[in-house]
Amino acid sequence: MSTKATQPQGGQPQREQWSSRLGFLMAAIGSAIGLGNIWRFPAVTYEHGGGAFLIPYLAALLTAGIPLLILEYTIGRKYRSSPPGALRQLARPAETIGWWQVAICFVVATYYAAILAWAVRYTGFSFDQAWGDDPEGFLNNEFLKLNETPGEISTFVPGVAWPLLLIWVLTLAVLLLGIRRGIERANIVTIPLLVGFFLILVVRALTLDGAAEGLDALFTPDWGALTEGSVWVAAYGQIFFSLSVGFGIMITYASYLHRKSDLSGSAMVAAFANSSFEILAGVAVFATLGFMAQAAGVGVADVTSSGVGLAFVAFPQIISEMPMGAFFGVLFFVSLVIAGFTSLISIVQVIIAAVQDRTGLGRTAAVLSVGGAVTVVSVLLFANDSGLYLLDVADHFINQYGIALAGLVVLITVSWGLRQLPALQRNADATSSIGLGVWWRICLGVITPVVLAWMMVDSLVTELDENYAGYSTSFLLWAGWGVAGGALLVGVLLTLLSRRRPATRWDAAAASDAANPTERNG
Ligand code: ALA
Repeated sequence: MSTKATQPQGGQPQREQWSSRLGFLMAAIGSAIGLGNIWRFPAVTYEHGGGAFLIPYLAALLTAGIPLLILEYTIGRKYRSSPPGALRQLARPAETIGWWQVAICFVVATYYAAILAWAVRYTGFSFDQAWGDDPEGFLNNEFLKLNETPGEISTFVPGVAWPLLLIWVLTLAVLLLGIRRGIERANIVTIPLLVGFFLILVVRALTLDGAAEGLDALFTPDWGALTEGSVWVAAYGQIFFSLSVGFGIMITYASYLHRKSDLSGSAMVAAFANSSFEILAGVAVFATLGFMAQAAGVGVADVTSSGVGLAFVAFPQIISEMPMGAFFGVLFFVSLVIAGFTSLISIVQVIIAAVQDRTGLGRTAAVLSVGGAVTVVSVLLFANDSGLYLLDVADHFINQYGIALAGLVVLITVSWGLRQLPALQRNADATSSIGLGVWWRICLGVITPVVLAWMMVDSLVTELDENYAGYSTSFLLWAGWGVAGGALLVGVLLTLLSRRRPATRWDAAAASDAANPTERNG
């Protein structure tokens, strides 16, 4: 495996590095562009004020998304480790936050892969429009074999299991090849392909009858929405998920950066590439929904859905109705698979890097052990007749009380607890093309923590007021609260386990940091 030599520190093994800035950027963009861009953004925008939503969205991008991206890049590059090791070098107790993020990535990876598995099957179904004239009935009954009682698992679903295994084999194959030969190359090949496919889809969507009505529905501003707190909360939530911040992914990817790499410039490029793709996806989705509404003689509001409903019910119906539907159907589902695949790779890499950093295991052993565990859990939990319910609840709770909460805890710890923002700013500024002013510290130390804390309170109040999506309390207790709380518990347990073992390269890195502070503090 090719590894570029880095400065040896305290006898540590050399860490792999991206071959170029472009390689890192492609991987960061590939991680950001995912299911969140294609099926989440269009519906969130529509539901929260249409064109007016772009104002809180931009505010969230500038005050939280980009500053957090720069923070995660800086921590990763400075401490050259995955989240537990990097945060431990900031302060020993902070290691727990890192392991918590690793556990969150484990949960997200198990269900994210399941959605990709469905998209693989739907690529095949597009050829002959296997869903017939009832896409919803086909999805629930014939494909997912969904039962009536959420949480009750009675049948294994082989039609989901085999594409899921395929996704896992492909993901682990890329990860086995390492940072440069695997992750970097996979992104360099697939991201331009994805953009090309999507541009074809956008052009096709814009030339459909009814496209203008669809775009009107998406972009007509409802200025009144700007006074509603939930709209701002939704914008921050979208930016977090979409930019892949709060998972520890960017800390991990940045740990393979060269010491002299530009951080703030790269964060700007990655963030704007992600948002441009998101707007493109919004245009494609709504122009197509406009076509569907016109064909059905109803308003765009009546055909709009999000997530599973959008990709696996609304789109199949449109594919059946549009000219050359099979071709565009294949293009849409392949795009979904590619976008999600590069994000999945980044999520699993966090777990692999953490295991490698802590235990010193080689890449092959780490990929096979982590990959084996995540594959087994993913197939057992999601290739069954309750898989869709589990996925829906786990996704909601882990996003809200995992990713966003861990992001909030990192910010409070780094800015208020450890008062490390000025040192991290100096470190980033030493090699970056764009200097970070006092604004960066205000965004991370004040604005974003306040908005995130507000988000937590707001969603907790809603959660306690009514059961999420009408599920039973007992189901939400184990599949929602249990999963989100379980991730935190696993984080604590892994920290305790990690402390019982002899010191590894983390401590060597910390020792080297103490011996040579100027090099690391840039
Ligand atoms: N950023 C990834 C997405 O949008 C996780 O799906």
